Amino acid sequence: MDRHAPILVFDSGVGGLTVYDQLRAILPDAPVIYAADLAGMPYGTKTEAQIAARVAGLLGRMSERFAPRLVCIACNTASTIALGMVRDVLEVPIVGTVPAIKPAARATKTGIIGLLGTQATIRQDYVDQLEREFAADKRLLRLAAPALVDCAEQKMRGEDVDRRAIIEAAERLREMAGEMAGQAQIDTLVLACTHFPLLADELAREFGENVQLIDGAAGIARRIAHLVEGQEWEAAGPDRFVVTTKPDNIKGLQAMTAARGFAPIERF
Ligand code: DGL
Repeated sequence: MDRHAPILVFDSGVGGLTVYDQLRAILPDAPVIYAADLAGMPYGTKTEAQIAARVAGLLGRMSERFAPRLVCIACNTASTIALGMVRDVLEVPIVGTVPAIKPAARATKTGIIGLLGTQATIRQDYVDQLEREFAADKRLLRLAAPALVDCAEQKMRGEDVDRRAIIEAAERLREMAGEMAGQAQIDTLVLACTHFPLLADELAREFGENVQLIDGAAGIARRIAHLVEGQEWEAAGPDRFVVTTKPDNIKGLQAMTAARGFAPIERF
């Protein structure tokens, strides 16, 4: 194993930084390349075939170029659709990101769990399976919240977050729970898109203190750390942040990536 071989963290945009931040906290010295497919974002409004082809193709090319020791698909949409396919074609360990339904089912007291994800994620069989396996005796209310992906991207560019999208998501889920009719309320919210923990403060404000937010980022970072345990590494310099888009589209991101210690943004 090359000591410089990086861990590749991949997402459509900045959402995977929620996993990256957790990974950095437990493996501060491991070389990491963060890859954002900004040219393909959003994934959530694409078809399964589009997402699978794009993710498998890109990760194949990135694996050839960067020779990673491990790939983390830090995106629920890509993972719930393409994880199996990517594992079949790449020869490095792949860690995916799937909705944290299992811990949410353990945590809920009212038995009503909200799940916020992309349109593509919430319709996946993978999510049906997780629900059957871990939350069969709960109510899992799934809501597609594509506007929150944009909100998170705005926030990471230092722009104002449009709170209306967050307010609407909270209202819609409360309606779905039938809270107005005085029934039991959602007490647990699964953030099933890696972009959404970037909005944890805004979501907590709208959902209120009785709703706990659950995401999988820390668990995924621990899983990566476990898989690379005992390996040797040496960072050749700061972590790299690569994007698939034109330089115009990365304006506003440099300040955030520099603050996290990344080298200047590169194009893939
Ligand atoms: N961050 C991605 C996820 O976890 C989705 C964002 C997008 O729609 O591209 O699902």
